[in-house]
Amino acid sequence: MAVLPILHHPDPRLRHKTPPVTQFDETLQKLIDDLFETMYAAPGVGLAANQCGVPLRLAVMDCSETHDQPIVMINPEILERSERHIVEEGCLSVPEARDKIPRYHRVRLRALDRHGKPYELDAEGLLAQCIQHELDHLDGKLYIDYLSSLKRERIRKLLSRRKSASGG
Ligand code: NI
Repeated sequence: MAVLPILHHPDPRLRHKTPPVTQFDETLQKLIDDLFETMYAAPGVGLAANQCGVPLRLAVMDCSETHDQPIVMINPEILERSERHIVEEGCLSVPEARDKIPRYHRVRLRALDRHGKPYELDAEGLLAQCIQHELDHLDGKLYIDYLSSLKRERIRKLLSRRKSASGG
């Protein structure tokens, strides 16, 4: 397993809608393991393949405090949604920034597992939020898209300052 580099906003590769996974081969299994290792190392509760430069409709998640409830979400879709509420959110591709945005409190997810087997999952709270966040990534969307242009601009400046300070 390996920790992969995570792309940061405004990398254009974060903005492309990803195509579905069609091959459930060894390469995919290794990619899934690497995504989990990268997510746990970050640390984060979710990571989409395109955040590591791999354009595939695949994300991994684990919202448990004990890091023992891994979820693989391939070619996901949301079947049902509840009412929305305001939650605080951040993203590994938008480091050091957090803000409040609307998310559905409950969702019903349909996706494939790492072996291509379909499953459905009723999620609420943090897991439901995470599912929506990762699904947005797979559609080329970031949580900052829900913010005002003023706030987005502030985050962009913060990130470019941080980039020049680190020399990369
Ligand atoms: Ni994210």
